[in-house]
Amino acid sequence: MLDLRDSPLGVFDSGVGGLTVLRELQRSLPHEDFLYLGDTARVPYGSKPAEMVREFAREISWALIDRDVKGIVIACNTASATSLPELADHLPVPVWGVIEPGVRAAAASGGTGRIGILGTVSTIRSRAYQSRLEALGLETWARACPLFVPIVEEGVSDTEIAELVARHYLGDRPPLGAVILGCTHYPVLKGTLQTVLGARVELVDSAESTAATVAGDLEKMGLTSPREREGRIHHLVTGDLDSYLHTARVLGGPEGTAERLALPLGPRDAALSSTIG
Ligand code: DGL
Repeated sequence: MLDLRDSPLGVFDSGVGGLTVLRELQRSLPHEDFLYLGDTARVPYGSKPAEMVREFAREISWALIDRDVKGIVIACNTASATSLPELADHLPVPVWGVIEPGVRAAAASGGTGRIGILGTVSTIRSRAYQSRLEALGLETWARACPLFVPIVEEGVSDTEIAELVARHYLGDRPPLGAVILGCTHYPVLKGTLQTVLGARVELVDSAESTAATVAGDLEKMGLTSPREREGRIHHLVTGDLDSYLHTARVLGGPEGTAERLALPLGPRDAALSSTIG
């Protein structure tokens, strides 16, 4: 009989950004297997209408469930902001997003003063972060940074180009105590952002607190894998596999096996396989 505890955890994002969350999940749950889906054929999500992103999130979630995942981590702020309530209500497996853990991490951050939020157009427009932080009595300043995602996907995060773009977005900011990296691609830009914002501004990345939440909940639900070997990762990519593998390697992305999936996402045999590394 299938032991659900042995099933993989599904994780998805529009591209490589969710690998920053996957890395923390692996750290907290070293014996779990992961199925990571990067929807690189349709990246970016952040400038697309919310209804379209909801459609993608539904399609991906069912493709992961078809591959027997025991739970799904939406490793994408845009998809979390637009789709988490609906997915949590309708899917037959537990679902986690990255916004709530990000809010908790920001509220617990040591920085004093206003909290900055950087994210995609869609995440900032949704006010998912602003409304939760303001409800806690915190002052916010938010900025959509649409050029950051292609910069990360192209693997040029540590270049002059990235710094120029960051200065463009942050030039008129008020004094800030902490800044939420409200897109899972942005932790890759940490070095550049810290240079532009100054060393005293605390950068808040929701990956760690998301991983801690998922690990705690799996334990409570009795779903943690009992296996002793190291967990494995299988990557599913909707766009060009070589470009994905290249960027994932530039980011020091986790190893594993990978395959390209044709859109619309269908049954598991419609795939082209290859191995990373
Ligand atoms: N990394 C995603 C997020 O956290 C999506 C970025 C995008 O595709 O625009 O919002």
